[in-house]
Amino acid sequence: MVETSRSAAVAPCSRPMTRILAGSRCSCLAVWSLVGFILMIHFFTHIHRDDEEDVLVPLSHLSDIRELEEVEEVTFHFSPPRDRRSPRALKRKGPRKPPTVIDEFLDESSEVHAFFFPNRKTTFGPTKEGNNSMYFYPGRVWLDTDGNPIQAHGGGLLYDDRTETYYWYGENKDGPTYHAHRKSAARVDIIGVSCYSSKDLWMWTNEGIVLPGVETNVTHDLHKSNVLERPKVIYNDKTDQYVMWMHIDDANYTKAAVGVAVSDSPTGPFTYLYSMRPHGCESRDMTIFKDDDGKAFVIYSSEDNSELHIGPLTDDYLNVTRVMRRILVGRHREAPALFKHQGIYYMITSGCTGWAPNKALAHAAESIMGPWETMGNPCVGGNRVLRLTTFFSQSTFVAPLPGLPGSFVFMADRWNPSELKDSRYLWLPLTIGGLADEPLEYNFGFPHWSRVSIYWHKRWKLPEGWRTE
Ligand code: GAL
Repeated sequence: MVETSRSAAVAPCSRPMTRILAGSRCSCLAVWSLVGFILMIHFFTHIHRDDEEDVLVPLSHLSDIRELEEVEEVTFHFSPPRDRRSPRALKRKGPRKPPTVIDEFLDESSEVHAFFFPNRKTTFGPTKEGNNSMYFYPGRVWLDTDGNPIQAHGGGLLYDDRTETYYWYGENKDGPTYHAHRKSAARVDIIGVSCYSSKDLWMWTNEGIVLPGVETNVTHDLHKSNVLERPKVIYNDKTDQYVMWMHIDDANYTKAAVGVAVSDSPTGPFTYLYSMRPHGCESRDMTIFKDDDGKAFVIYSSEDNSELHIGPLTDDYLNVTRVMRRILVGRHREAPALFKHQGIYYMITSGCTGWAPNKALAHAAESIMGPWETMGNPCVGGNRVLRLTTFFSQSTFVAPLPGLPGSFVFMADRWNPSELKDSRYLWLPLTIGGLADEPLEYNFGFPHWSRVSIYWHKRWKLPEGWRTE
């Protein structure tokens, strides 16, 4: 012991060999005891946590969940893309680099595009199939109870305890698509935030535009020439108000701010309060999350979309506090969708490729403020191309199924930049379970996250018992 402590004071490289060996044996022992100790603490805290928070899923529901988790493979064969240049240009310049499947997906005249945006004849919804079909068809046009295509893009759900009703808020993009400048992204003027209501998550009634765009006042944030994206609503129990947060921008996406609006009713009208840069930082794709204890948080892409920021809201949910953490720094993630299961926070994000689809990633954290770890691509089934493009869509929200702990609905947008109003919704089952398949950035907390899986289904319905608390 004395030896060790004395040698510890000497620089390791200057010690004689025997001492080094003895010293290293001792320090090895110390390190292993420490590791053992940490492992034991970790093991017991997890057992304790599991004891406290395990929710037993009734046996009858297990078969329902298994149905959601069926792995459905898809194969598709498309004819090779045509080179549409004149024979003379072809001869002069030689064959062109073949377009990628994503280029084809975005090209409205291609076979691939037609495949992923099936025409209006394949719509689904209550007016089409009667009230009891209840099947979701991801990617098909979804009709509301009036028989009109649902307009709620980049949206999110709110379950309102008082009315025992779900509300779906999203961007109404039912206008012409155009480019503000030659090189800018495709856009639609701000029409407003739509709201739909439902008791069963399948049959949606149009409640109208609850926050309209502004036609005349060009200085207003909501002037039609600006950008309003990804609206989300949460209810504040203390102030009895429904609070909406959204991405507010100018047509060139240089304002990079959040907007806040409030209402006394889930169906509005919402009163627009202001826009701001949270924590003085740029904010583009964003979401808000209300935790079980009523604390709410905003999560937004910042610093040129290179990182996400997360911070608690004030108690009235109308502002941010001074606390903020930078997460997934340098990872270039956006379209965050947060959810929670058994005390662990999960998040799905997309890469930053505008309207073009890319690979989703799942992340997990023990504290909502981080550190957040990345677990890999959650997409299961379909085929490789579908999995690498989030089934040709981008995350927007993840809604819990209260009767089936660990099961959720993953909500995503399949954007159609040649006709944004015809962008489609992909709702798919998301489950948490099994071990994450990537080793993760291990730390001394030894987190053992469960895997997050989003299952491809051409057609699926919610299992019985999804809503029983
Ligand atoms: C995406 C973003 C969308 C929209 C789009 C515009 O990256 O997720 O919400 O802003 O860019 O190109």
